[in-house]
Amino acid sequence: MKKIKILAIVGSLRKDSYNRKLALIVKELVGDRADFSLLEYGDIPLFNEDIEKPTPEAVRLVYDEVRAADGLWFFTPEYNHFFPGVLKNLLDWISRPQGANNLLSGTPATLSGITPGMTGTAVAQDHLVTLISYLNMDVMNAPRVTVPNALQLLDEEGKLILAKPSLRFLEKQVDGFISFVEKRKA
Ligand code: FNR
Repeated sequence: MKKIKILAIVGSLRKDSYNRKLALIVKELVGDRADFSLLEYGDIPLFNEDIEKPTPEAVRLVYDEVRAADGLWFFTPEYNHFFPGVLKNLLDWISRPQGANNLLSGTPATLSGITPGMTGTAVAQDHLVTLISYLNMDVMNAPRVTVPNALQLLDEEGKLILAKPSLRFLEKQVDGFISFVEKRKA
């Protein structure tokens, strides 16, 4: 079978984002079992129907990457017990090209998140599941890794070192999502 493509969408534009670091750990865990890349979308505009047509170039590039992906993996921070506005803006753009039959419909998805707080992003993830389910994504709900207390997980160089239980869960999520996506592609 051809290698599956997983596109990671990090809901933070911050250079030192914990969620970006988590996505990079997942990339390592995936290794050569799948193509795993991070979507760069920091230059897409705020959604506004007045600028929707013609599609802005930065948005067109996002559409191309999403269209080429066999599965999406969201890494979401938690802002006020919700997922961040940049992620909602991105999903609003992606939801648009085909109305009800949007680009995400039927696409496998999973979620993880990390926060310096105690919730581990569980509340934000639940809100995100509501949105991507509305968009008819094929959501793998278990396991969904939530990592709290991020500040305590950085080494002296700022590298994220997951505690063993989180790492084990993440490995299960990686294995689970690869087979979830492969089954749907078969
Ligand atoms: C936060 N943060 C936060 N953390 C949390 O656990 N629960 C929350 O509800 C919130 N709310 C919140 C609101 C706003 C506006 C900001 C800017 C931050 C803290 C947040 O988890 C922290 O900034 C993370 O570092 C964001 O993720 P990245 O950018 O490191 O991936």
